[in-house]
Amino acid sequence: MHGHGMGWGFGGADAAGGRGGRWQMRELAKQEHWDWPVVRRMLRAFRPYLRRALLVSVVILLTSAGGAVPAWLTQRIIDDGISRGDIHRVLLWTGVLIGTALITGLLGVLQNWLTSTIAQSVMADYRMALFRHLQQQSVLYFASRQTGDLVSRIMNDVTAIQTVITSTLVGLVSNLLTIATTLVLMLELNWQLTVLAILIVPAFVLPTQQVGKRRQALQAQIQQWLSRMTVQLGETLGVSGALLVRMFGHEPVQEAAFAEANDTLRRLQVRQALVGRWLFMWLGMFSSIGPAILWGYGGWLVIQHRIGLGVIVAFTALLSRLYGPLSQLAQLHVNILASIALFRRIFALLDQPPEITDGPLVLVPERLRGRIELRQVWFAYPHSAQREGHAAIHERRWALQDVRLTVEPGQTVALVGPSGAGKSTLLQLIPRLTDPTRGQVLLDGVDIRSYTLASLRSQMGLVPQDPFFFHDTVFNNLRVAKPDATLEEMEQACRAAQIHDTIAALPEGYHTVVGERGYRLSGGERQRLAIARVLLRGARIVLLDEATSALDSVVEREIQHALEVLLEGRTAIVIAHRLSTVLRADQIIVLDHGRIVASGTHAELLETSPLYHTLYETQFAVT
Ligand SMILES: Nc1ncnc2c1ncn2[C@@H]1O[C@H](COP(=O)(O)OP(=O)(O)OP(=O)(O)O)[C@@H](O)[C@H]1O
Ligand SMILES: [Mg+2]
Repeated sequence: MHGHGMGWGFGGADAAGGRGGRWQMRELAKQEHWDWPVVRRMLRAFRPYLRRALLVSVVILLTSAGGAVPAWLTQRIIDDGISRGDIHRVLLWTGVLIGTALITGLLGVLQNWLTSTIAQSVMADYRMALFRHLQQQSVLYFASRQTGDLVSRIMNDVTAIQTVITSTLVGLVSNLLTIATTLVLMLELNWQLTVLAILIVPAFVLPTQQVGKRRQALQAQIQQWLSRMTVQLGETLGVSGALLVRMFGHEPVQEAAFAEANDTLRRLQVRQALVGRWLFMWLGMFSSIGPAILWGYGGWLVIQHRIGLGVIVAFTALLSRLYGPLSQLAQLHVNILASIALFRRIFALLDQPPEITDGPLVLVPERLRGRIELRQVWFAYPHSAQREGHAAIHERRWALQDVRLTVEPGQTVALVGPSGAGKSTLLQLIPRLTDPTRGQVLLDGVDIRSYTLASLRSQMGLVPQDPFFFHDTVFNNLRVAKPDATLEEMEQACRAAQIHDTIAALPEGYHTVVGERGYRLSGGERQRLAIARVLLRGARIVLLDEATSALDSVVEREIQHALEVLLEGRTAIVIAHRLSTVLRADQIIVLDHGRIVASGTHAELLETSPLYHTLYETQFAVT
């Protein structure tokens, strides 16, 4: 639809707002305004493809000019050939006509190829830039955002760039050129008919605009109901949702809600289809009325011998090259504003600086002793965007307050405390998953912020409460910890973590796919596999968030063996939920409401800390 199609630019109906994508563009454009810095930055993305862009412009110029040639040739054939009975001329011009059609066709293909490669390259560049940027963000960054939103930025917003390029940039240039070449040729043929053709313009463009708006409004409603339906389907067809619905007998309510959405959608979509029908009828009718007016007036001119018959034929052909592009230009501002909105969203994401950044020093493993010290550490979670309003009212909530703690090389410190006390938060500070709001974390007396993240983290192993595994084989999941690990090394680590026998018994052993949709390992198995992963890494500092689930005594013993290997000779901070773990710690720290309220050995704490006593009686699974 770049203005050189035959017919009356029926594309106008589509351009006026048929599909959901177009609707979204309108919605985006609504709250947008022209913004030079964003536009400049947008255009800068095309700089690597400047030469190709220039080539496209030349090709567009040629196709726009070439599109007008058939009308001109038709006039020649009729007035210079047929009217004068000159068959040689007729044959010559028809030959040229065929040649032009071939050339403009080929140029059209070239234009499509060039714009697609530019658009796809720019899209690929942005996807890469966004992915790289997000990889640098802290874990906390993702905790405060919806995954779906970020995924949609990368997949949808970036894909919309394609529309920007083809319909906005190419559309602007090609429509303007098409209109310009058409007008030049029209004026060259006859100025009175040109004026008449321009006078008919509003009759074509205005109804398209009107209908476009009506369809827009309907589409907005349809979109709302569709997303409502999608949400409901997602919830009720998922395992957890289905479970809830069955257990509480909620089926009738769900069915009623679905029926309402279903019915509304049916009505809205019928109405939307009908709005389009009227436009099509009008355009169809007008495709006869427009030429009829031309024929009426032009016929009179021909009878007066003021013009040749061929001029009218050429004009009727040129009409479509005027109205199609005009109606597209009439709604170009929507595309431009929507593009600004999309790019603004992409730029906003790219401009967020990573919260955790590298220090200047590289941690040398050979010189690492492994002494950890927390010096007057305070930590408050940043308020997420939705809760900002509350932040102004409420005081900052400290998840950790004035924590002072030293772990000597090779020591194991057990962290205990009620749920929400800040244990996991404290653990996150050591590998710099978050930085303290106040205070310092020191490793061998040096602030850990001095080191590069990679060198710091390479010396630490974290076993989270619910470890994550990629949807991949056990083998590849273990390789995450050590890319060049051999199967022997893996087996050794897994034996030490008491998980080898379990893996060996899987259908395909170490090559069984686990994770999200793969073979489901039990909670205890996952944690032991995570321990194996840390052992494989050979980290000197171990951070362990013990699973709370009660285990039977066989598994309990296996875990205990695994832990013994893991903690041996390493500096460790362990969030302990089991008495056996607490008992083998060199030091026990009791955390409550973000503060260290007591510390010592098991026996000491039983005497001195009432909270510890309670925890001992209620929380620790006694074995
Ligand atoms: N991402 C987050 N954003 C905001 N607040 C958080 C976040 N994560 C934890 N918190 C809050 O910080 C406090 C400490 O949480 P933390 O996860 O450290 O507790 P915990 O001692 O590990 O508890 P549990 O034993 O239940 O795992 C809690 O009040 C919690 O609500
Ligand atoms: Mg926790």
